[in-house]
Amino acid sequence: HKKENQTLYDIHKKVNDFYHYYLLNTTNGEDALNYLTNRDMTNDTMTTFQLGLAPLNSEVLLQYLSQENFSHEDLLASGIFYESSQGKLIDRFRGRIIFPLRNSKGEVVAFSGRVYDENLVSQANAKYLNSPETEIFHKTNLVYNLDIARPRIRQLNQVLVCEGYMDVIGLHQAGYQHAVATMGTSLTEAHIKQLGKLANEIIFVFDGDDAGQKATARAFDISSKYKQLFKSIQIPNRLDPDEWIKQKGAASFQTLINQADSRFEFYRMYLKQEYDVSDDQQLAAYIERLIELIAEIASPIEQQLRIQDIVEQYHLNESILYEQLARARQTSS
Ligand code: CTP
Ligand code: MN
Ligand code: MN
Ligand code: MN
Ligand code: MN
Repeated sequence: HKKENQTLYDIHKKVNDFYHYYLLNTTNGEDALNYLTNRDMTNDTMTTFQLGLAPLNSEVLLQYLSQENFSHEDLLASGIFYESSQGKLIDRFRGRIIFPLRNSKGEVVAFSGRVYDENLVSQANAKYLNSPETEIFHKTNLVYNLDIARPRIRQLNQVLVCEGYMDVIGLHQAGYQHAVATMGTSLTEAHIKQLGKLANEIIFVFDGDDAGQKATARAFDISSKYKQLFKSIQIPNRLDPDEWIKQKGAASFQTLINQADSRFEFYRMYLKQEYDVSDDQQLAAYIERLIELIAEIASPIEQQLRIQDIVEQYHLNESILYEQLARARQTSS
């Protein structure tokens, strides 16, 4: 009995083995290998994550695949190839470093290819190119690295959710083997449901730039109806996790984990960038936003602690804040 879409899995497995070999064992792979080595990646790590290289000339891969009985239609359906105007198959990842995307069982279901000559990145030539949606690849559901990270996530009852492959790989190599990524796309409820089954503590570790902060805000918002403990890490100096580890060393990341913020703590910092708190009216608007967030905290004790924070920081009258909280509760329910 053949599994549904077995051919698509088989194609991905074959192509992945080829790309991986081509990166590690050919002269044409040397530049790509040097690129990864210069980014501090060890060969062991490249093997763990089955990184690869797609030859510049599609014919090399097609030649290798000709030993198999894959049809033209199956190869097209895999999403790895597209058709030229002459009807020839072209490897859409040609010339790129390959990150195989594995499903939760560890089967390769898609690829992402990175340009490794930064000079070649442009509007027309994106840094990363992903497989299109296929029968076996649904981008918004896929949690990158869930298969490898699962035992460690369970053991620590904690998961680190990053934006990118290089973050997950850099963290893994630095000893943080419970990291996964959403592939740059925003976190979805499908992601939360998969992670929530494995760990109670879900920590967002998005890039420290504006886009990463915005993604963190959104991630907290869509998570607010789930019962797990959600936190976030703001990487200083607008760095991403991979860059941080490279600059500060592996051990320093644990300090960031230990200091991870709750939703309220994150928003208190994040919203401050939107308001000029030296202006009384803007300060009032800012505090009203904070109280709306406090209204969504489940624990009354934690609500009281947060109100107390605001009382002390801005020398406000506690009873006025509680009145505001009562109003916020009414509008949010
Ligand atoms: N991404 C993508 N397409 C792009 C840019 C990004 O699919 N053109 C996705 C990738 O999954 C990438 C993630 O978004 O890993 C985060 O993007 P970015 O922070 O720009 O890349 P990094 O992960 O930091 O990759 P690198 O360090 O190699 O630049
Ligand atoms: Mn499907
Ligand atoms: Mn980014
Ligand atoms: Mn990044
Ligand atoms: Mn990066």
